[in-house]
Order: sequence, then C-alpha cells, then structure tokens
Amino acid sequence: MRITLVTGANGEIGHSLLETLAASGDRKIIALDLAPLADDLRPMVSVALQGDVSDPAMVDEIEKHDVQEIYHLAALLSTSSERNPALAHQVNVNGTMGLLLMARRIGARTGRAVTFLFPSTIAVYGMPSLEKKNAAGAVTEFEYLQPTTMYGINKVYCEQLGGYMSDRFGQLTDEAGKKVLDFRALRFPGLISATTVPTGGTSDYAPEMIHAAAQGKAYACFVRPDARIPFMAMPDGVKALLDLAAAPAENLTQRVYNIGAFSPSAEEIASKVMEAFPGAEITYAPHPKRQAIIDSWCADVNDEAARRDWGWKPDYDMERAFDEYLIPTISGVYAV
Ligand code: SER
Repeated sequence: MRITLVTGANGEIGHSLLETLAASGDRKIIALDLAPLADDLRPMVSVALQGDVSDPAMVDEIEKHDVQEIYHLAALLSTSSERNPALAHQVNVNGTMGLLLMARRIGARTGRAVTFLFPSTIAVYGMPSLEKKNAAGAVTEFEYLQPTTMYGINKVYCEQLGGYMSDRFGQLTDEAGKKVLDFRALRFPGLISATTVPTGGTSDYAPEMIHAAAQGKAYACFVRPDARIPFMAMPDGVKALLDLAAAPAENLTQRVYNIGAFSPSAEEIASKVMEAFPGAEITYAPHPKRQAIIDSWCADVNDEAARRDWGWKPDYDMERAFDEYLIPTISGVYAV
C-alpha cells in the first residue's frame, strides 16, 4: 500500500484531498498539521502528526515512515505572509527545503523515487501595471515572474528549488539509475470550496462573498468590482493534484504547470452570488494593499502545457461551479 504524506492537512486543500484519498482507500496516509487534526479527518489517516513542518525534529519523525508520495500543502498564504514575512520564509521556504532533503534521503534509501507535489500559485506572477495585466490576458508559465509579495517570492523560489533538487543537486539517482526525487508543481488559481473558508489569502474575497451570502450576512468586498484573477472550484484543484501525481514521468515536459478554469471579475462573482441568494448584501470597500496584490496577479493563465502533457481539463466552468457544486453544497453547510 502506498504511503502518502499530506502536510497542512487541516487546511482547505488538505481537507478535500484527504476526503478524496481516503475514499479511494488505496493508501496509508500520514497527516501533519500545526494544529490537532480535525475530528472529521482523523478516521481517514493512519498517523496524525502535530507540529511545525520547518522543525527538523518533526522532519525526522516523518522520515521514519518512508513516505513514497508527498503533498506539501502547509504554507502561510499571501496576506498572512505580508503580515509576517520572516515567518512566511521560515515555513514556506525552509519548511519546503527540509522536506525536499528528506524526500531525497528516503528515495535514495528505499530505491524508489519519492513524488513531491507542490502547490504553487498565480501569486508568482507580477504584472507590471493594470494596463499590461489587462492586455496580457492568459499568461504562460514563463512570463511575468516578478512577484511583488513575500508569498509569491517564496513560491517561485520553491518551484526552482524543487527542480534543482530533483534534477541537478548531488546524487541524482539510486543504484538502479532512477531519480530519487520527482518534484511536480501546480500553479493554483484562487480556490473556492463549498465546505471550508480560507484564512490569510488575498483571493479570499470570492469564497468570503459566497459563504457570507449563504449565511445571510452582508459582505464588504476588499477589492474593486473590476478586479480579475483566475479561480477554480476545489474539486478541480484536488483532481489536478491527483492527475499530476499519477502522470507518467516521461510525459512531463516541465516541472511546473499552470491550471485554469474560469476568470471572473469580483463583480461577475457578485452577480452570480446575487442570482443564487437574491437578498445578498454585497458592497465594495477596497483595501489598498490587498487590491494592489490582486492587481499584480495575472488576469488569466495559459494552461496548454498541462492539457497536452497530462490531460488537464477542469470539470467546472463558472456556471457549473456555482450551479452544481457551490450553491447546492453550501446551502447544506449552513442549514439549521
Ligand atoms: N489563494 C492564495 C492567496 O490568496 C493564492 O495562492 O494567497
């Protein structure tokens, strides 16, 4: 049975990923989170570790399990990272480096390459101006990589680090000539889950708006109505992670892939929310720093490489995301 590590297990992606992995029942799951693992997730895992991913003693503890596959989800998101850049660097960069080194040691010792799935982000982009952002449209993986935020800088560096540790650092292969580490990264758009809300991100206005409306609460959106970045329904995010993990190494022509689904403005999200919850009260109170971050992210991503190399295709466009996933599920979450 495959042994899979999920860090940041209590987080939004962690929650959905664990549910999907546990349902398939084909692996032993080791979960790590800073907080005690959520009660609903406990039955899904074999081992629940609590602690800091950037603590070397915790990495030693994980290493005992000889994990074969790692979903390294633990991170501070973009707004949290702006508030505490030193902590962001510690967790987002040093935490990742510790796990990459651990993965290499396990790969070398067991003779099986460890697959390392890394959630990167549209925050790696730094569009030079709003005019250029609007003119650029869908950007490829290789353009506009001048992030303005600590989080974006951490993530673009870790993308590079993962490639370096897989392809160029030290002993690259085991005795059979196989690589000991197989790093693969996805650049996620803002993710929207029907069952959880994010903490500390800057794309949070979309999920916050939807979850507020479902609870009958007024919402003041912290970006302008015209603010536009890519978004994705959480089930597609999880599908992308699993599909990239399962793709044969020989099909992958790059280590970092964009994935896209839909790219609405805040106002377009608000009108979809109003359709579903006609009484919803949505106003706009742009926060200058958070607005500047959103303006620096791309308006859309070009995901042709993911489509070509491993068959990426989202199940949910905006209509389906709202009509078949978000609205039906969210209403159940807050029903009394
Ligand atoms: N959703 C993330 C954030 O807002 C972007 O990766 O920080």
